[in-house]
Amino acid sequence: MDSASLKTPSPARSAPSRRAFLAGSVAATALCARAWAAPRAKAADLHIEHLIRRMTLEEKAGQLSIFRSPVANMRINPLGRRDPTRNDALADVRLGGAAGYFNGFDLAFNRELQRVAVEESRLRIPLIFAADVIHGLKITFPIPLGEASGFDPELCRRTTRSAAEEATSYGLHWTFAPAVDVARDERWGRVVEGAGEDPWLGALIAAARVRGYQGEDLRAPGSMVACAKHFAGYGGVEGGMEYNTVDIPETTLRQVHLPPFKAAFDAGALTTMAAFNDVAGVPCTANRRLLTEILRDEWRFRGLAVSDFEAVIELVIHGYAADEKDAVAKALAAGCDMSLGGDLYRQHIPALVREGRLSGTIVDEAVRRVLRVKKAIGLFDNPYRSLDADRQAAIDRRPAMIALAREAARKSVVLLKNDGGALPLRKSGQSIAFVGPYVSDRSNVLGSWAVYAEPERAVTLEEGVRAALGPDASCSFTPGCDPDKPLDGGLDAAVEAARKADVVVLYLGERERITGEAASRVSIVIPPHQMALAEAVATTGKPVVVILKHGRALALTGAVRDAQAILCSWFLGSESGNALADVLFGDHAPRGRLPVSFPQASGQEPFYYDHRTTGRPQMDDAAAFKARYREVTNEPLFAFGHGLSYSTIAYGSTIVGAPRVGRDGVVKVSARISNTGARAAHEVAQLYVHTRVAAITQPVRQLKGIRHVELAPGEEKLVEFELRAADLAYVHPDLAAHADAGVYDVWIAPSAIAGEKASFILV
Ligand code: NOJ
Repeated sequence: MDSASLKTPSPARSAPSRRAFLAGSVAATALCARAWAAPRAKAADLHIEHLIRRMTLEEKAGQLSIFRSPVANMRINPLGRRDPTRNDALADVRLGGAAGYFNGFDLAFNRELQRVAVEESRLRIPLIFAADVIHGLKITFPIPLGEASGFDPELCRRTTRSAAEEATSYGLHWTFAPAVDVARDERWGRVVEGAGEDPWLGALIAAARVRGYQGEDLRAPGSMVACAKHFAGYGGVEGGMEYNTVDIPETTLRQVHLPPFKAAFDAGALTTMAAFNDVAGVPCTANRRLLTEILRDEWRFRGLAVSDFEAVIELVIHGYAADEKDAVAKALAAGCDMSLGGDLYRQHIPALVREGRLSGTIVDEAVRRVLRVKKAIGLFDNPYRSLDADRQAAIDRRPAMIALAREAARKSVVLLKNDGGALPLRKSGQSIAFVGPYVSDRSNVLGSWAVYAEPERAVTLEEGVRAALGPDASCSFTPGCDPDKPLDGGLDAAVEAARKADVVVLYLGERERITGEAASRVSIVIPPHQMALAEAVATTGKPVVVILKHGRALALTGAVRDAQAILCSWFLGSESGNALADVLFGDHAPRGRLPVSFPQASGQEPFYYDHRTTGRPQMDDAAAFKARYREVTNEPLFAFGHGLSYSTIAYGSTIVGAPRVGRDGVVKVSARISNTGARAAHEVAQLYVHTRVAAITQPVRQLKGIRHVELAPGEEKLVEFELRAADLAYVHPDLAAHADAGVYDVWIAPSAIAGEKASFILV
């Protein structure tokens, strides 16, 4: 199966039906701008213009404000804010004072709010209901970073589609997802929400997730508006510290951080969210360069830009605006159309326009963008879409969704190491001690941002294993410690259980709360008391299989690093325990690949495979006067792209079709890949490129293609990629992207540090 194409998705490759959808909505591309003149779009525009002419400044300010829902069914309350009461909300809506509500849903109440909006407010503009549907609503898929391990955009499209089907049945129209931040410092907690460190893979997955949420037809009951966030550069926070300063040149911003956004908009994403951070001193909420010059003028994005949560007031705290009013004027003038949470737009827009400090044209354009999104999803024709109790009842825990959650979970597991074929385990004839704080734990199964999920229905490892092995299984489950602290007698009980068993499965790692938003870590290690447990178990001399629970790459040491086998399992979502059992006992062979590099030590972060070559690269083990740390070499503990199966795979030489290629030509790059083991395998072959000489020094390698290949035992296949000049383009000092004539190195490889190099010349 070849499931991924070589090239970053482009609008020209979209299906015709998608073009039709874009024609009737807000579209980002030139293709769509042309189609915008279609009769339906024209009628929509006329209706919107008619509304804007009739709106008061207060009603316009209301359309530019979305508020936290009075229905508090989210498991967290950021900043501990008091939500508006239901009566406040009803009164506001009656006055046309809100565009919609987010992060709370209750069909009956939201239906009533909608009824008031379309029957009792003066202009009858429907509300939009939004939420952070990040990796599912009730049924939870793996954390986005984990799912990215599939290197499988189609899987991402299917899970986001499923999430949209479920979320829309709970009354939601708009998700604040996907997060498409490229994250290269694993100390940053929000690495968990994106697709990892690579811009090319990030772009592929961003587009797939947008397609999943928005579907082929935005008016269809199961489609919801996507929001590519956080625009932009959030993954570049200094030191990996949450909400910190971002200081990166625009060349790097364009080369590394913007491609997934561009891909998301080309795939039709109707909205984006401005990031909390500044870039080079200008907070994104009021960053005209980003929100207007790049997003609108250059990319022709016609959708809506929303602030992050209460980020408008943060312009004052940043020291970028003098007071609330100044913050509102600066944010709107820069292109931040809507404020998320907080009342500042509603409070200050009318006065700012009346005083001549904010142009009415800017306000009208922002309102136009909001109304276009509402139009695009059919809210004016059917304000009660998604607010249908029958549809909700029909969709509740649909078996197909649960099956997809299990499929996605097992495809997200990465086998990092398997010395002596320790895995898979046998279902009988072997006694297994499952040890660690997560073996029976249900509160850290789903992962960060599963705020509406049902933890009580998540499958634990113990449940998954017991279901796989049946009642006569020879296994024990011993926590040994808590995720956060030691347990009285825990170590002794764990050692005792290990002694009695033939093999130990150690389930260790991060609890949910130290991953995700506001969860940056200084040191990305397994907590010390869990390491003590691992060391104690290792003294028994029994073979140890480690399962890691984590929302980022970890710096593994000691008994964990030295275990016979290591499975990287992230937070796998609702079906976690079943999926882990599938992998442990070989009903599913692991096939995931690392979307982030594992360093040898935390102090190496930011640590990513596509770093540039320095003037003093580490060539051998000698540390003197080389770009490296004294304590460790520069090699990753586990490289980007790495992941084993239960078989062994051999790569032949990388072959280029021709030594020279013209600018309009195509280079074929191929390699033979064979399954040299005794079990079937699913291999993910990767194409990497290096530009030898450039006006801005280029990464040592860059991913440019992936191919999924099924190989029976003993089977060999030819894997082939095509490269064009456009694939070799890089952002030059003048910010234009194009390829230079010169020598290019290529590898077809199982990871970012493997494979045999070949070269060609672009003339
Ligand atoms: C803050 C987060 O940064 C953002 O990703 C999220 O969508 C909003 N809060 C709303 O919950």
